[in-house]
Amino acid sequence: MKIPVNTASHQYEVTIGNEILTNAIESYGNLIKKADKLFVLTDKNVWDNQGTYFKEHFPYPFEVFVMPPGEECKSFDNFQGAHTFLIEKKCTRKSILFAFGGGAVGDLTGFVAATYMRGIPFIQIPTTILAHDSAVGGKTAINHPLGKNLVGAFYQPEGVIYDIHFLQSLNAREVRSGMAEVVKHAMISDEKWLTELMASPDFYKMGQEKLAHHLKLGIEVKAKIVAEDETEQSVRKYLNFGHTYGHALEAAAGYGGLAHGEAVMIGMVYALLLSERYGHISRSFTKTFLHYAYHTGYPVEQLAKYPFETLQPFIVKDKKAEYGELKFVLLSKIGKPFMQTIDLTECRKVDSEFRALIMEVCK
Ligand SMILES: NC(=O)c1ccc[n+]([C@@H]2O[C@H](COP(=O)([O-])OP(=O)(O)OC[C@H]3O[C@@H](n4cnc5c(N)ncnc54)[C@H](O)[C@@H]3O)[C@@H](O)[C@H]2O)c1
Ligand SMILES: [Zn+2]
Repeated sequence: MKIPVNTASHQYEVTIGNEILTNAIESYGNLIKKADKLFVLTDKNVWDNQGTYFKEHFPYPFEVFVMPPGEECKSFDNFQGAHTFLIEKKCTRKSILFAFGGGAVGDLTGFVAATYMRGIPFIQIPTTILAHDSAVGGKTAINHPLGKNLVGAFYQPEGVIYDIHFLQSLNAREVRSGMAEVVKHAMISDEKWLTELMASPDFYKMGQEKLAHHLKLGIEVKAKIVAEDETEQSVRKYLNFGHTYGHALEAAAGYGGLAHGEAVMIGMVYALLLSERYGHISRSFTKTFLHYAYHTGYPVEQLAKYPFETLQPFIVKDKKAEYGELKFVLLSKIGKPFMQTIDLTECRKVDSEFRALIMEVCK
């Protein structure tokens, strides 16, 4: 299956399916034959779990750089390490990089590709569910000690090859975290699809075909939004649904304390409560959704560990808070997002409503 991504700066395709790596790479034969060298950037966990399959199915010779796992690879040190590796291995403007890993590897490799000799081509080979989101759209970044993703560039890949074979070695938490972004894509685009997702809360029993179907729908939502607004001037902001509160919770917990998607799932419930006030979301829907999140294994009850006072500085600091105003993505109904300014007093009030609702629903 192929999904076109047409941004203002660049056009490419996402190829998705099971065990498609070899064919999909070969479909870039023209580009690859012109390249002098191929470099695969990956992280230790991905390489340990999926390196064998990768080596068996990647049809061209390549050099590999194995980085520290997950978020650790997005450090300045590793960014420099990747450049050093490429320089030493004589990577040129005619070489191609492959980002083989989750969102972290994708973000780091994209930024290395954007900056090495002022930009060389790269292809994304995502290996997590979350990366159905991060591999599409051209946002690349590394972390600064003072904040996540503060240094980066918009830089689109030549293509995305999403072989869902790689998802088999993800642990339950990573599956849950990634599925939250799929749910988010449904929330901001399509009520029928959301209902379908909520009807199969056991992600493990879903089966490869159904999973691929949901991931394809998610990629289509992301691709459509990115085509309309590559650099986040307008509709791309809707992708932050659940993220203002979610980011604050993720930061308060200390990165890694809660997985990104776990925090976003909780943030989406909060955004639904706000949407009851400004849109046509009913309390009964919010409750049903909270119940669904809880029973799907999202650690909703952990919110109790982080009182509003500890979240507040992060809510205010969220880089999407423009000109001192708190902007939230809300829903007028499922599938219809809009932006709304909310003041801190109301944030606090809805936060305490949220905590009461968790006590009522999650037992
Ligand atoms: N660029 C964007 O638009 C965008 C969007 C959302 C998130 N992100 C970024 O994505 C990152 C999160 O991505 P993620 O959730 O994929 O996390 P990740 O890349 O850190 O991967 C999560 C963990 O799973 C391991 N892993 C990855 N694939 C595996 C596999 N197939 N089998 C076994 N283990 C595997 C990794 O080593 C890591 O420990 C964050 O840095 C976030 O900022 C970027
Ligand atoms: Zn996210």
